[in-house]
Amino acid sequence: MRLFVAINLSEAMKAALINAQNEMYDGGIRGSFTSEENLHLTLAFIGEAPDAEPVVEALSPVSFAPFSLELEGLGSFGDLWWAGMRSSPPLEALTRRIRRALAEAGIPFDRKRFSPHITLIRRARGVMPGIGIGSASMTADAFSLMRSDRGRNGMIYTELGRFTAE
Ligand code: 2AM
Repeated sequence: MRLFVAINLSEAMKAALINAQNEMYDGGIRGSFTSEENLHLTLAFIGEAPDAEPVVEALSPVSFAPFSLELEGLGSFGDLWWAGMRSSPPLEALTRRIRRALAEAGIPFDRKRFSPHITLIRRARGVMPGIGIGSASMTADAFSLMRSDRGRNGMIYTELGRFTAE
């Protein structure tokens, strides 16, 4: 199974992201738009793993206090277009703790530098319109272990474990 660790977003934050997607669509952009229920902020990508149980065990002791998340800007990696999440010391610290816990448990993960973003469109076609992202913030009080499966109409993400702030 394919696993990743993510923060699932509040309804208000998802609404701001859907709004930006709609503006892009209205501006003539086409591509594979992330569905509302699939919008998330990945903290660590594990990829193929034989079993989720050791991952849940590794993540369970990761502790953190609730912190604030705020959208910041739009950008792209090639034809993948994203909304940025403002980096902050608590977000960086949580990601570091999660990655350290995985490393200590011997669970391989993608070691690419953390670049907090939410994918809005894959295989985007068109010129990025000059739109902004509405301001939206939320309190992050949990992170999740997610499983990713390829469905008939796109990816299906399932929460396998939820780890809450103290
Ligand atoms: P992306 O949206 O920028 O592709 C599930 O695939 C989640 O894991 C997505 O948020 C994806 O980010 C992220 N991810 C990070 N590294 C990845 C990798 N090497 N392969 C696939 N997904 C990755």
